[in-house]
Amino acid sequence: MTTFSVAIDGPAGAGKSTIAKMVSRRLNFIYVDTGAMYRAFGLYCVDNNIPLDEERIKNIVDDVIITIEYFDNEQQVLLNGKNVTVFIRSSEASSMASAVSVFKCVRLKLIELQRKLASQTNVVMDGRDIGTFVLPHANLKIYLNASIEIRASRRCKELHEKGIETDVASIKEEIIERDGRDMNREFAPLRKADNAIELDTSNMSISQVTEEIVRLFEEKVK
Ligand code: DC
Repeated sequence: MTTFSVAIDGPAGAGKSTIAKMVSRRLNFIYVDTGAMYRAFGLYCVDNNIPLDEERIKNIVDDVIITIEYFDNEQQVLLNGKNVTVFIRSSEASSMASAVSVFKCVRLKLIELQRKLASQTNVVMDGRDIGTFVLPHANLKIYLNASIEIRASRRCKELHEKGIETDVASIKEEIIERDGRDMNREFAPLRKADNAIELDTSNMSISQVTEEIVRLFEEKVK
């Protein structure tokens, strides 16, 4: 079966998930949030006091079963059968996701799940290495970016809406640290794919970015 895919990568807070969700609705594709998978893996490590040590992580990697389901078109992440979707958005889970994502054994496990989803259905997939590693033949690759100030304030607002209170300065610090780790890890780091189109969303509305990506996709597959 031939499937279509749109890969959306970029640093934290660039608007990937909001935009990817909107684009998936417009194209009638499934939205796959790969960050949620790393967050669920991180949550397992926090809940089970697993130290951030590659050998220890290798030993437990097969104990972590992550599955994706969709209720009302919203992605749900199940960790060993338990729906953890609402628990993975805290600052602690964000940092933990970034920390466990440096390990090759974790990435290979989650990449297999991501590629399987994309082989079964048309997807808009967001993450850090989708265009460069997970789906190198994606029909369209987008690298979303925005200034650090904008990204921090967007993330702060998003957390506030979820009932998590924090301040822009600490979110900014957390984002800088996380981006540094995501860009500098050895295996499948965050970077713009050579054939990705970069969009700076600092001064663009959600609908402008969505329309531009839909237009680019239609142009590509024509
Ligand atoms: O997109 P997000 O903020 O939910 O991602 C959380 C962390 O997971 C991010 O800091 C790095 C990691 N991640 C990754 O390494 N590769 C992906 N494809 C998606 C996320």
